Order: sequence, then C-alpha cells, then structure tokens
Amino acid sequence: MTEIASSLCDDSSRRTFLKSTTAMVGGALLTGVNARVAQASHPGGSDEIKVALVGCGGRGTGAALQALATNGKVTLWAAADAFEDNLKSGIRSIEQQVKRGRRDGDPLLKDATIDVPADRQFHGLDAYQHAIESGADLVILATPPGFRPLHFEAAVDAGKHIFMEKPVAVDAPGIRRVLAANEKAKSKELMVAVGLQRRHDPRYLEAIDRVRNGAIGDVIATRVYWNSGGLWVRPRVKGQTEMEYQMRNWYYFTWLCGDHIVEQHIHNLDIGNWLHGEHPISAQGMGGRQVRTGKEFGQIFDHHAVEFTFANGSKMFSQCRHMDGCESEVREHAHGSKGTLDIDDNDGAFFTTMEKGSWQIKEPKLNNHHQEHHDMFAALRAGRVYNECQYGAEATMTAILGRMATYSGRALNWEEALAKGTDLSPKIYDFAAEPPVLPNKDGFYPVPVPGKFNALEG
Ligand SMILES: NC(=O)c1ccc[n+]([C@@H]2O[C@H](COP(=O)([O-])OP(=O)(O)OC[C@H]3O[C@@H](n4cnc5c(N)ncnc54)[C@H](O)[C@@H]3O)[C@@H](O)[C@H]2O)c1
Repeated sequence: MTEIASSLCDDSSRRTFLKSTTAMVGGALLTGVNARVAQASHPGGSDEIKVALVGCGGRGTGAALQALATNGKVTLWAAADAFEDNLKSGIRSIEQQVKRGRRDGDPLLKDATIDVPADRQFHGLDAYQHAIESGADLVILATPPGFRPLHFEAAVDAGKHIFMEKPVAVDAPGIRRVLAANEKAKSKELMVAVGLQRRHDPRYLEAIDRVRNGAIGDVIATRVYWNSGGLWVRPRVKGQTEMEYQMRNWYYFTWLCGDHIVEQHIHNLDIGNWLHGEHPISAQGMGGRQVRTGKEFGQIFDHHAVEFTFANGSKMFSQCRHMDGCESEVREHAHGSKGTLDIDDNDGAFFTTMEKGSWQIKEPKLNNHHQEHHDMFAALRAGRVYNECQYGAEATMTAILGRMATYSGRALNWEEALAKGTDLSPKIYDFAAEPPVLPNKDGFYPVPVPGKFNALEG
C-alpha cells in the first residue's frame, strides 16, 4: 500500500481529522472574493478547490497528493517547475499514486481530480508566475527555499490561498520580505499555511499544552536535535550552466537551501520556540565541515551547535549534524523548574515531574504531513482561514540566526541579524546568469571560515 493509501485507511488519522475540523480550525471568517472557496461543499455551491503546485519534487508531489486526499473535491489544476523533466515526472508520480490509492480503496481519493493539460504545465524560472495566474484557488509552494520569498510575494499579490513549505526564506532580507507580504495576505484574508507539520500533530499539541499549563513548571532550558546521516547529491551533468547545476544540487548552496540548520533543523527549533513561547533574542555557536568536504557538497557545513538565549534568560541548546556512522537523534526536550519533557516524533511524548509523576501521550502516531492538509482544507470549506506565517518566519529566522552565528563565530542578536543579515539572493534569475557563489579553478566553493566570515551587511 502506498504511504498515502495507508495513512488514509488508518482509523487514527481519520479520527484526528474529524476532531481537528471542529477543534483546531480557528482564524478569520472568509468574506468577499474568498467566499467562493468557503461555499465549497455547501448545497448549490461549487465543491471544487483548485490547486496549483509550484515545485514538483519530492515534497511538492507529496503535498499535492495529501491535498488531493482530503474531504471534498480537490483538483490539481496547474503545475510548475523550473525544469521540464521534474515537471513531467512530478505530474506522472501524482497520477500514478492517485491511481494506486484508488485501486487500494482510499475513500478520500474518490473526488481527487487531476486536470493539468499541457497549457497548464509550466517550466522555466517564470513558471511559478504562470501557475499562480492559472485560475487556481490555492497554491502549494514547494521549491527550494531560496525562491520562497519571491514566490510567496507573487501568490499574495495574486490573492491566492497558500500552503508554503518550510523554511520560508534562507536569509534575513528574505524574512523581511515574507513578513511584509504576509501583512498583505492578512488584509486580503488569505490562508497562509506553513509546512511545519508537528504543529498539526495532536501529540505535540497536547504535550505543549500541558507544558503551557505548568506541567513541568517554568521552562528553563530546551535541547533540540537533528543529528542524522547525510542526504542526496545530484552530480554535475555535462552541458549544465552553473546556475542549473546549483539549482539541481540545491541542498549544498546556502543561497538556495539555507544550510541544513535552516532546511531541516528548523522543525526542532520551531518546537523549541513553541515551548519557550517566543523566539530567542541572541545566539552563539560553532560548526564546520569535517566529513562532507568534497566539491560536490558545495559550501554548507555538516555540523552546527548553537546556544540560543531568550528574553527571560532561558536557553535553547541546539545541535544538527549530517554524518553517517554517528549517534542519531531527532528529538526535542524541555527542562522545567518542576520536571522534564521528552518528545520523539516517532515514539510520542512523555514527561516526568517530581510533583505529578509521569505522563505519556496516548495518541498513536499519525501522518502529520497529511494532517496539516486535512486541517487546511477543512478550514477553507468551513469558511475560515488561518495564518501560520509569523511562527514559520520566526522559526526560519531562528535557524538563520544560528547559521549566522556558526558561520561567523560571533555572538549575534536577533534584531541586528534581522535588520542587517546579508542578502544571499542572485541579482538575476536566469539559467545563463551567474549564481551568487562560484567555484574556484579546482571546482571548490567558498566555505565560511568562523572568525573571518562576516554575516552582516556593511
Ligand atoms: N515539511 C517537511 O517535512 C519537508 C520535507 C521535505 C522537504 N521539505 C521542503 O520542501 C521544499 C522542497 O524540497 P524537496 O525535498 O521536494 O526538494 P526536491 O529537490 O525534491 O524538489 C524541489 C523541486 O523544485 C524545483 N524547483 C527548483 N527551483 C524552482 C523554481 N525557481 N521554480 C519552480 N520550481 C523550482 C526543482 O526542479 C524540484 O523539482 C524545501 O523547502 C524543503 O525544505 C519539507
């Protein structure tokens, strides 16, 4: 059974969906032009929500499938990718998985429709704009995060509801752009959902709610980890321009990926911020490239360790590492004045306290990627939008601040980093244009050297 089929046939996932449609969906009631989406599933109104997908890779196709497999009629209406081969293979993969899911009896795929004719398939660096303007109601933004501010601004300007993958940017100027565009999104009553799926996981919701209600006393420190093995490499192919090579091998270029502290560890840093109830005010840390030193790994580090400080003096200790054969841990922990909370995305959450004994989550694990789509479409069909951009941007900026601290070796504060962090984006978006970093004559890219690297403009 496919991942999507198995999650749909899983009773616990369905139970949570039912609960969430009434319990989790808050936010503003839709008015004006957006009411068309709100009419969905009302007698006489159109039941269809049309989706445009921008970025047809692993997560984009996964998110599109999860969107299609929600209650009510969802139509994949347009698709865009920088590269034609990825566009075609992404659409093909969605078609095949929907077919397989239907064959396996997924009731939530009953109304799933794929209606992406050739004239609504777009490729190239302006493909996103065409998909956004194709007549869809909602846009899924799932390219490498270096493009997110540009694509988010365009989707907001066009008045589309938005699901955007994390991270929402890779640098401080990108965060400022996203926050400014989000003010417009709010005034236009647009849905802005961010792919930090743990926020839609009942196990996380309950654990953090208990912490908020004093279960472990005051949170004094958190520890958050994404220590794992390495990821894919997409080797250089003859005839590629430098821009195309970097875009295809995007993970290893900071202007595209943000480094793995931003791209991946953001999930754990977001939980840390959630536990502390705010974003940190400063960071200092260390990191480097110890194992992943080849030119195929571009310029990013393979480990970072950062100490974040919050306004009340509490701390978040963060580690992320991409090294095979080392200790792995992808978890979050909180140490309070009265006890300790441990969260594991696989095993759930539990805490122990001196006063209240121990507690363990009872909810089984669900597919929280899918859950965030259940919640988003249920909200739209109920005539509501919610906006996750603020915490998505704060989690992203927390990770960027951590990277600025490890690259520079300096202690940095939030305000200065947000105001003066270097703009990493290219001057021109064109396959023939120069990307922001270039290799030396031996094919190696510049790697930040702590103590010498300046993370701030001017
Ligand atoms: N929430 C999660 O747990 C989770 C998991 C995986 C990935 N992600 C996020 O999803 C995003 C995509 O990751 P992925 O794993 O799917 O990567 P991927 O490489 O599989 O797919 C990215 C796709 O975007 C396309 N693309 C690149 N630049 C583009 C542009 N300017 N316009 C249009 N298309 C463009 C690529 O050609 C590729 O097909 C990243 O931000 C990543 O952090 C989130």
